[in-house]
Amino acid sequence: MHVSGPTSSRWTAYLGLLSALSAAFAPAVAVKEHDFKKCHQSGFCTRNRAFADHALAATSWQSPYSIAPESAEFKDGQYHAVILKTINDSGDTVRLPITVSFLESGTARVTVDEEKRQKREIELRHDSKARKERYNEAEQWVIVGGTALDTAAKVDYEDKTQLTVKYGPSSKFEATIKLSPFSIDFKRDGATQIKFNDQGLLNVEHWRPKIEKPAPAPESEKQEGESSESAESAESTESAKAEETKEEEPKGEDESTWWEETFGSNTDSKPRGPESVALDISFVGYEHVYGIPSHAGPLSLKQTRGGDGNYQEPYRLYNADVFEYILDSPMTLYGAIPFMQAHRKDSSVGVFWLNAAETWIDITKSKDSKNPLSLGTKSKTNTHTHWISESGLLDVFVFLGPTPKDLTAKYGELTGTTAMPEEFALGYHQCRWNYVSDEDVKDVDRKMDKFGMPYDVIWLDIEYTDEKKYFTWDKHMFADPIGMGKQLDSHGRKLVTIIDPHIKNTDNYPVVAELKSKDLAVKNKEGNIFEGWCWPGSSHWVDAFGPAAREWWASLFKYDRFKGTMENTWIWNDMNEPSVFNGPETTMPKDNLHHGNWEHRDVHNLNGMTFQNATYHALQTRKPGELRRPFVLTRAFFAGSQRVGAMWTGDNQAAWDHLQASIPMVLSQGISGFPFAGADVGGFFGNPGKDLLTRWYQAGAFYPFFRGHAHIDARRREPYLAGEPYTTIIAAALRLRYSLLPSWYTAFRHAHIDGTPIIKPMFYTHPADEAGFALDDQFFVGTTGLLAKPVTEEGKESVDVWIPDDETYYDYFTYQVVPTAKGKSVTLRAPLEKIPLLMRGGHIFARRDTPRRSSALMKWDPYTLVVVLGKNGAAKAEGDLYADDGESYEFEKGEYVHRRFEFDGARGVLESSDFEGRDCATKKCAWMDQMREVTIDTVVIVGAPAKWAGKKTVHVENQGRNWDARIEYTPAAEGRAAFAVVRKMGARVGTDWTVDFS
Ligand SMILES: *[C@@H]1O[C@H](CO)[C@@H](O)[C@H](O)[C@H]1NC(C)=O
Repeated sequence: MHVSGPTSSRWTAYLGLLSALSAAFAPAVAVKEHDFKKCHQSGFCTRNRAFADHALAATSWQSPYSIAPESAEFKDGQYHAVILKTINDSGDTVRLPITVSFLESGTARVTVDEEKRQKREIELRHDSKARKERYNEAEQWVIVGGTALDTAAKVDYEDKTQLTVKYGPSSKFEATIKLSPFSIDFKRDGATQIKFNDQGLLNVEHWRPKIEKPAPAPESEKQEGESSESAESAESTESAKAEETKEEEPKGEDESTWWEETFGSNTDSKPRGPESVALDISFVGYEHVYGIPSHAGPLSLKQTRGGDGNYQEPYRLYNADVFEYILDSPMTLYGAIPFMQAHRKDSSVGVFWLNAAETWIDITKSKDSKNPLSLGTKSKTNTHTHWISESGLLDVFVFLGPTPKDLTAKYGELTGTTAMPEEFALGYHQCRWNYVSDEDVKDVDRKMDKFGMPYDVIWLDIEYTDEKKYFTWDKHMFADPIGMGKQLDSHGRKLVTIIDPHIKNTDNYPVVAELKSKDLAVKNKEGNIFEGWCWPGSSHWVDAFGPAAREWWASLFKYDRFKGTMENTWIWNDMNEPSVFNGPETTMPKDNLHHGNWEHRDVHNLNGMTFQNATYHALQTRKPGELRRPFVLTRAFFAGSQRVGAMWTGDNQAAWDHLQASIPMVLSQGISGFPFAGADVGGFFGNPGKDLLTRWYQAGAFYPFFRGHAHIDARRREPYLAGEPYTTIIAAALRLRYSLLPSWYTAFRHAHIDGTPIIKPMFYTHPADEAGFALDDQFFVGTTGLLAKPVTEEGKESVDVWIPDDETYYDYFTYQVVPTAKGKSVTLRAPLEKIPLLMRGGHIFARRDTPRRSSALMKWDPYTLVVVLGKNGAAKAEGDLYADDGESYEFEKGEYVHRRFEFDGARGVLESSDFEGRDCATKKCAWMDQMREVTIDTVVIVGAPAKWAGKKTVHVENQGRNWDARIEYTPAAEGRAAFAVVRKMGARVGTDWTVDFS
């Protein structure tokens, strides 16, 4: 949901301020821009950018970081050493322990700490209770596996200046660690892919005591004895230029933001002083980088240091409640995943920067034409990235690919994969701020039925509560929540209610009383309970970093505690960046303290995940013996959030460009390990025109998470209100989604097993086809071979789809053969009622074609298989189908059906076998007796061979039984492919069977 809407005092204040400045739409932009920091308003970003400017401009820059040779040791897959950072001309150094871990998975990890802070030999200012160490617990929240050391990794070469370690599968990966200056080259098959500190931008701001200066002295004396760090002193001219606030910065280090920083009316006390970590990571020979969501920009990330079409600002990761976000921007949004993939023809590599503090990432590209190793004359492009975090460890994982799928799999191994959702969660979700009463909800529920619009979930935003007190109901408007829940349940539908982390600070509210008495809230810098403003007014924030807080949180969701909820109630966690209306950048002060006395600064980007996770676990323990997969939607997220639910892209607008922007945003989530993603259909703010609303439903039917939502000031827009022809067209989009649910669920299975995205961009499916690398407005769905290109422009009645290969492509709805050529675009007609959707030859996918009101009601329906052949009909096709009970964890014990379907055109046989090669004749593979009776009813073969003309039956063999099924063949005509339909095929879905067409 929403930032401060018109109801918030903060927003009202801004409105007053801005109305004087400009008219209608301009203020929105102004508000966002000024509400959030740019790099020059962030001390550590400014300092590191200035450091980079200096290093890159200098002709003979040398990084002041070197490994002390005698400190180095390689043992059991790990390299330990101490990096010495030279901090002044007299050669004084600071010790930075480094560990390079080579993992069994082939991933490498580089971790740098600071000895003084590690040993707590530092002093904090302002009597702070904060921890002295660099934050070293990010791993505890984020990493769930894949960290076993590669004990077969071995030093392959070593001399006084460097050593090379061979590691990974068949030792094809190599890391060359250079001692002085420190750098690492990561190679695959002998060729450098990734370089650390190649540009010399490594910077670990070490602890130093604050030297209180005497009263301001004349300019000339002021800098005496101050110019300490050789590395950083020369940067001052640059940083002085960059610093807008400090006109006459003296020569020497820019200390202006070391000890205190003010933004707006908030001052950060920074008890630990400057402590940023930064590193340049170069991708050698890579032109495209992707990932680091969430940003409203293209999938292929832009350069950030100015120039034509580039950004001026680094990409920023600092979870924030961004009001009406602007498009095509590197500014931060609600969630952060510091995982980046670099891609070139036939090669993907990547890094994961494990740091939860505020982070900025600069990206530049350079041409490298003189490289003697590059084949041919084509110049190579290198992408240079500069990662800058405010605090914490420097902790980076390196993935050497070579395929995009390797990257998502290895990343998934570390941070976990998408939780297998309940099947209903893939259906359509109907939300608005707000359904005003239980009667309102029941009325919407009835109307969806009346208009033949399937849906699974209806949502309640904050107004259902009694004065924004979570776990309560507005008793007048929601007099009978159980009655409401039961009506929904009668058609297998669910209710999602919002529960946010801010707890109203008021009397007679047991939840806040317990939060205080049990001491489970986030503290301010003095160590007292933090108080701030959010929806309820004065509020406190539950601190989900603490185990006791999570346990208490779980107790609140018990059915006898959160009265009015039932088994079909699930939860939406919003505002968990956290949003604090009167805080700096609408969030918490960085010097707030969390469980264990870690500063908020250290854990900010983790906050949303720990809260969502607490809710997820709470929902698993609502009732003993009732264990189902929880559904929790989150707005804020971090690497690992995929393990506990879905996300959406936050408060977008009812505008065509926001519809357009949603697609690269959702694709970016997918390749960054968190594919259960969607954008608010219709746009949150404003009122979409009917064409826009319709097009948005057509696009939303292809978001992994499909929810319509609207702001409290927006007109009602339940899809049946649109009127004809819109209502019919939207209903068709909803039904398309529902008929394809088996294929969506199968795609989620793949995401769950190995981190594969659910919707896939072209570079992911066609890693060798360079023309597709920057495309982010079309995508494939799971393993179906369905290629979608939603219409996102007003008045457009056609789209150009880029065709990545030589396969045959058919229109999904008409079976028209699309006249395609590899690497060329083809124009498809797409009047309002048409979703541009192609089927790629060579695939088989499953549907359920009987229209129902909800996914639950489809549970025992028979399946339709669509077999899509190449032009000559002799081609092979394959696909798969995953199904389980859709709600419990029995699938973890093998209680599921996962079939592989193969059509062999030469033999004319369609065959079903267990996807994992389990022997289902002897072992239990199918789940539940009821499922044993579910059959494949219909098989559609698109591109059926001409020799099938006149055929009346096909032969089916299933579990030792044989029978004939009817087939109808329709010859090709006017560009439409020939197709055949087998009816009442009748084989059981969970078993082996063949259909013989010969
Ligand atoms: C999630 O909650 C469980 C149960 O309290 C806890 O063990 C785990 O550490 C939490 N993980 C995250 C990421 O918050």
